Amino acid sequence: AIFEATCTAPVNIAVVKYWGKRDTSLILPTNSSLSVTLSQDQLHSKTSIRASADFTTDRLWLNGIEESIEKNKRLVACLRETRALRATLEAENTTLPKLAGLKIHICSENNFPTAAGLASSASGYACLVYTLSKLFELPLDASDLSVVARQGSGSACRSLFGGFVAWEMGEKADGSDSRAVQIAPETHWPDLQAMICVVSDEKKGTSSTEGMQLTVKTSALLQHRIKDVVPKRMDDMIAAIHAKDFPKFAELTMQDSNQFHAVCLDTYPPIFYMNDISRAIIRIITEYNKDGVKAAYTFDAGPNAVIYAPKENMAEIYSILSHYFPGAAFDDSLSLVKENSEKV
Ligand code: DP6
Repeated sequence: AIFEATCTAPVNIAVVKYWGKRDTSLILPTNSSLSVTLSQDQLHSKTSIRASADFTTDRLWLNGIEESIEKNKRLVACLRETRALRATLEAENTTLPKLAGLKIHICSENNFPTAAGLASSASGYACLVYTLSKLFELPLDASDLSVVARQGSGSACRSLFGGFVAWEMGEKADGSDSRAVQIAPETHWPDLQAMICVVSDEKKGTSSTEGMQLTVKTSALLQHRIKDVVPKRMDDMIAAIHAKDFPKFAELTMQDSNQFHAVCLDTYPPIFYMNDISRAIIRIITEYNKDGVKAAYTFDAGPNAVIYAPKENMAEIYSILSHYFPGAAFDDSLSLVKENSEKV
């Protein structure tokens, strides 16, 4: 018999950034973070997994190309964890099919460019772990699954939920309290939209994984951020989201993006993720906000901008940006995700 599951998972874009690990193998962060999950309509990862007694090895295809599983410690960790959970279920209920010991074939694809600072690892690992949980029929909620997805890629733990999601850093050494929780569902603030400005779809220079550990090692500013800034910013952000206070949400989002890129500059040698176009977008949005905050920008580990704004401002923002960058590709407005991960 062949057992199979296929699922999709959404992208999330942080408004309080995760940058720095206190444990690199369990992927435990140096600060809590908060993100908005985008609609799956335009950007998502899709994963199919089959288990069969006929398979002789575990195999993986990413966007149609076969990749090694053994070399990928993070993927191995996600497989080990979910198989162990399945083995426990099978031990408790002997009528269940024996899936924990079977080899599997994994096929995963993104409908957007990988490693262009568009959080492909977030949706990818969220999707992998969610699909494994469906295949193995694991009785876990999204927060429990986030603990496994976190070990694939830190930001992946937040893509198990729709809407507004916090990754609580936790303090335990085993990582059991370092998990994602939903702050508010997508239906809470339907008026908020995101637009992705694809400044470049080239693969980025310094990966998040390498970059953040160099920051941990060399940046004094990161220590200030972790201790004196993020704890209060998390509280303020959660309050702004609950109150649907766009100006406050936008101000905190832009300040946090700015500080994240300042911390990258404070890394030695420095890391540059934004380019001249990214900085021009910051100037344009700042000018646009001159008489009242109507839009927020944020940048991850790459030059692409994500703009958050109330729905009514999106057409205007789109036309201003396309006036300055007539050749640039802007995605259509992405409304917030309606469902989180789902079985298709
Ligand atoms: C700038 O989750 O990609 O996007 O845990 O090493 O896989 P690893 O890093 P990753 O880092 C994301 C960094 C960020 C900020 C964020 O998403 O919070």
